[in-house]
Amino acid sequence: MPRKQAKRIGLAIVGAGRVGLIRAELAARHPQVDWIGLAETNPERGEIVREKCGADFVTTDFRELLARPEVNAVVVATDEHLHVDPVVFAAGRALPMLIEKPLATDLTESAQTLDAVENSGVDAVIGYTQRFRRRWLVAKEKVRAGALGEVTMVTTRAFMNRLVAIDNYRRSDNRAEVTPMVISGTHALDIVMWLMEGKQPVEVYARSVNKALGPTWQGVDGTAYTIAFDDGALYHGVISWALPEIWPGAVYSLEVGAVGTEGVLTIDDTHRDVVLATNLIQAEGYAPDRRRHVDFLTSYPVGDMALGELRGPMREETNSWLNRVSLGVPTQHATAREGHNRLMLTKAIDLSARLGRALPLPLTPADEARALSQAKR
Ligand SMILES: NC(=O)c1ccc[n+]([C@@H]2O[C@H](COP(=O)([O-])OP(=O)(O)OC[C@H]3O[C@@H](n4cnc5c(N)ncnc54)[C@H](O)[C@@H]3O)[C@@H](O)[C@H]2O)c1
Repeated sequence: MPRKQAKRIGLAIVGAGRVGLIRAELAARHPQVDWIGLAETNPERGEIVREKCGADFVTTDFRELLARPEVNAVVVATDEHLHVDPVVFAAGRALPMLIEKPLATDLTESAQTLDAVENSGVDAVIGYTQRFRRRWLVAKEKVRAGALGEVTMVTTRAFMNRLVAIDNYRRSDNRAEVTPMVISGTHALDIVMWLMEGKQPVEVYARSVNKALGPTWQGVDGTAYTIAFDDGALYHGVISWALPEIWPGAVYSLEVGAVGTEGVLTIDDTHRDVVLATNLIQAEGYAPDRRRHVDFLTSYPVGDMALGELRGPMREETNSWLNRVSLGVPTQHATAREGHNRLMLTKAIDLSARLGRALPLPLTPADEARALSQAKR
């Protein structure tokens, strides 16, 4: 490969919450990043993050930040339903982007955002962080190389501590859009769709339950779904984010099985291999439950703090994206089109569960509006 001329980076981070801070601290250590600017609607938070990462500029207005001459790359790390405006604005300025998942939480907005990105021709990728873990990369490589023959059936079981669900319901002013599929199930879905790359989903059937989170949070506990593909392959997934707070997995656990005509691949990502038991309550994670003294470590999908730095997939993903921007090297990030596809699938799963019937795929915004208006009649 010819040697590349590295581009220097002036990085804008829109949304300096938990993930914005992680991306900013990682970017501050990257050799190609000369300048960091932050846009954060909460000025106190913006100031805290500016101090932590040594940012050069901070504002509450993302338009002011994205108009700065130093900026040539953008991370959009606002709340899930607030990605759209900064993404469309950055696309208008032809700035390459790393957009946190999901692309949007509304199907129409997601389609409009994808149009804005594709019409501008910018390089925009979605933060499906799990793609940067070695176990999923090895699985992807084996499936790609044909070790399973033709993949015919995939199952995933995602179990999550309800602390994550409660945190999301607390932060949202539109709880109907905060579902386990749209917010969290999208990670397992992306991994499976990545493994099944090239197959077209043609039908979905799903059902949900809501007895634990329903009464207090008007939320959904969990969803079971089956997606059928054009070649007859099936993907069956289950997600529950209603596990009790005392469950030792603080965040996410996943089991995956992929069966093909010539092989099978199973992945245990339940984090029961590193177990901490202590009399002392550790003040980390999503406000840990005071009764919980046992922890399956490494269940936070982003990574873990060790010796003052984040270690794990979000570090790998951020550095990889900065190299993509700086050197133009390819990476395994999900594209904006894949991001829209994942949002469409999660919305179709939720809609099927709500209507109690199978739906053809893909689901368009018009299909969704029609199905919802029929359901109201
Ligand atoms: N890849 C992963 O593993 C992973 C993990 C956690 C969260 N996420 C995603 O990252 C995103 C952010 O999540 P978080 O946990 O950091 O949330 P957060 O609530 O901690 O941070 C969001 C921040 O954005 C700010 N904000 C909102 N609108 C803004 C605007 N228009 N301009 C500037 N600032 C604005 C808010 O004030 C808040 O500080 C979400 O999309 C989430 O789904 C990804």
